[in-house]
Amino acid sequence: MLLMPSAVITTAQASDKYEKLANMCSACHGQDGSNAFNTIPDLKWQNREYLISQLHAFKSGKRQDITMTKVAQLLSEEDMLRLADHFYAGKKDSSE
Ligand code: HEC
Repeated sequence: MLLMPSAVITTAQASDKYEKLANMCSACHGQDGSNAFNTIPDLKWQNREYLISQLHAFKSGKRQDITMTKVAQLLSEEDMLRLADHFYAGKKDSSE
């Protein structure tokens, strides 16, 4: 059978997009949010509210960074919440 309920397809696409985003963040911030680069902050165990507020600040231009300003512009509100959950949890998102 090739027919799938559309809700399943929508969820699969959304999680695919989210995974690509999370992989991009991990390239700099580290797979679990901790990294070895001197100039990149660890996100691991950072407060969830703080992560969200900083992403908002980058997107709105209140906080400026040559990289993060561009990155935040790619993120929807939902992406920010999910990514904050992801890095707050401090572990690879393998449970979904
Ligand atoms: C090319 C490298 C790079 C990528 C990719 C990247 N970041 Fe960043 N991120 C940085 C750097 C560098 C900073 C520090 C910016 C500054 O000094 O203000 C930062 C800062 C942050 C901060 C603020 C941390 C703090 O302690 O204040 C958050 C939150 C954040 N990034 C989340 C993300 C998320 C979520 C993604 C993926 C959507 C992402 N970053 C992708 C390099 C990156």
